[in-house]
Amino acid sequence: MAMKAVYKKLWEMAKPYYLKGRPMDIAHIEWMMKDALLVCKKEGIDESLLLPLVILHDVGYSAVPTGNPYNLDLRRAHMEAGAKIARLILENISYPKEKTDRIAHYVSVHDNWAFGETKIYLEDIVLGTLSDFDFVWMATKEGFSALMKIHGKSPAEMIEYLEKNDKLTTRPFRTETAKGLFENYLGERKKEYKPVTQIPPDIIKEVGFDFDWKEEKVWALDVPVEEMDIIELVWHIEIPFWHTSNGHYDLTPIQVLAEPEKYSEEYNRTMKADLSHPLDIMLNKGRWLLLDGLHRLVKARVLKQKTVKVRKIPREMIERIVP
Ligand SMILES: [Fe+2]
Ligand SMILES: [Fe+2]
Repeated sequence: MAMKAVYKKLWEMAKPYYLKGRPMDIAHIEWMMKDALLVCKKEGIDESLLLPLVILHDVGYSAVPTGNPYNLDLRRAHMEAGAKIARLILENISYPKEKTDRIAHYVSVHDNWAFGETKIYLEDIVLGTLSDFDFVWMATKEGFSALMKIHGKSPAEMIEYLEKNDKLTTRPFRTETAKGLFENYLGERKKEYKPVTQIPPDIIKEVGFDFDWKEEKVWALDVPVEEMDIIELVWHIEIPFWHTSNGHYDLTPIQVLAEPEKYSEEYNRTMKADLSHPLDIMLNKGRWLLLDGLHRLVKARVLKQKTVKVRKIPREMIERIVP
């Protein structure tokens, strides 16, 4: 779909601000422009309001301190600063005064839902659609992985976060088009991140070590302790490394956390784990795999720890840990 010169011009002028803002925002806005044009055509929304709003809505992140963009003070600040910058840019290209006022106002309230406001999105289709798009973004390929990092979520947790989000009930999608886009993107993500429970136990052969080892021999090794971002290890919680009372590699830590009552044995073991001991890990097929400490890892996850203590056991030591 061809984009009008005026929107290209606005994007050119806005880009330098985004380069100073959140690293993900260039992709955020470029994606949004494309789908916003589509929704304007299909739903008869005034593109002379929605497109500039899309292009300018997050410029304010360039003027606020960096930090977690979900922090409420930063949210308010990025809207206030953004409204001023948006007005400056629109006046610079002599955009119609009345529209400039409206767009600057939209920018100044576009994230007010984070402060409990819902009415303005239901009453105004331009603002409502922008807000829909900010949400839909999290289901796009780029948005999904960016948000996974920001929230420290695994793919399965991220999918659940989107599917059970308050937004869907408190501020339902304003248009069928936006709703359809969301469902399509979410479907793509679900296909990419197939829940591990549907994959046969071959997964263990696929991700596990191809040797046996004795934990006692691992503990006896002299390897320094270091801190590691939990993100590097969090994939373990989706793999059925545990088992039910009669099963064999048929229980994932995620299932245990979802139903602690049902799997009380593993859950209690997890919560009793002593986090002062480091996890023992070894590089295997390009990623860090636990030799020992899955209960500790899962507990650290429950406690929302960002890092864990690890000992990186070199592969040259394999012969010293086999039975
Ligand atoms: Fe925003
Ligand atoms: Fe945004």
